[in-house]
Amino acid sequence: MKISPSLLSADFSKIADQIVMLEGAGADYLHLDVMDGRFVPNLTWGPKIIGDLRKLSPLCFDTHLMIVEPERYVDDFRKAGCDIITFHYEATVHVQRLLTYIRSLGARAGISINPSTPVGMLEDVIEDVDLILIMSVNPGFAGQAYIPNALKKVREARRLIDAYNPSCELEIDGGIGRKNIAEVVAAGVDVVVMGSSIFSAPDPAAELQALRAIGEPVPAGAL
Ligand code: DX5
Ligand code: ZN
Repeated sequence: MKISPSLLSADFSKIADQIVMLEGAGADYLHLDVMDGRFVPNLTWGPKIIGDLRKLSPLCFDTHLMIVEPERYVDDFRKAGCDIITFHYEATVHVQRLLTYIRSLGARAGISINPSTPVGMLEDVIEDVDLILIMSVNPGFAGQAYIPNALKKVREARRLIDAYNPSCELEIDGGIGRKNIAEVVAAGVDVVVMGSSIFSAPDPAAELQALRAIGEPVPAGAL
């Protein structure tokens, strides 16, 4: 299991310290939520801010574009240093073209689906995808309640990946914390995005490590 803390819940007045803290706690990726106020009813940041953050960390930048017409901006996000560029299936017309284009830029190509979009919509592009992101909330805000139907979608996506593209990673985003991390990992998630459950803890670094221990229980007999 990999953990991708979402900087949406970080305190940007001390972002350099927060990133050092996440690296020290063993974060695998940094999840960067880009929102345009159109695809989702919220705004965050664009390539300039991500380019500045790039100077602060060598961690994999796991970029989640919640913007309409993402094809207009992927060059800029790649130049800013994004390693994974994930866009929404619902936000563009030519999904396969954009996946291929992101790979041609040397980035990993991710595709995300909203809670109302079936996993089956990805069947015909699975070989062009490096990461599938299952949204377990409707995108736009941190701290929303987990939608339990996501578990069924994780299992379906796991089967699709295992059958056609085993090197593709499966990520989940929204409402994940101590209560549900173990069940989503057991269902086949490789990368867990978490914002408020890490940053709202009194000691976010300790919480990240606690979440990892809950998500990856030591097998019986391994001690
Ligand atoms: C929501 C974003 C998430 C958000 C998750 O639209 O895509 O990455 O930060 O926040 P939590 O973990 O608090 O649900
Ligand atoms: Zn996200």
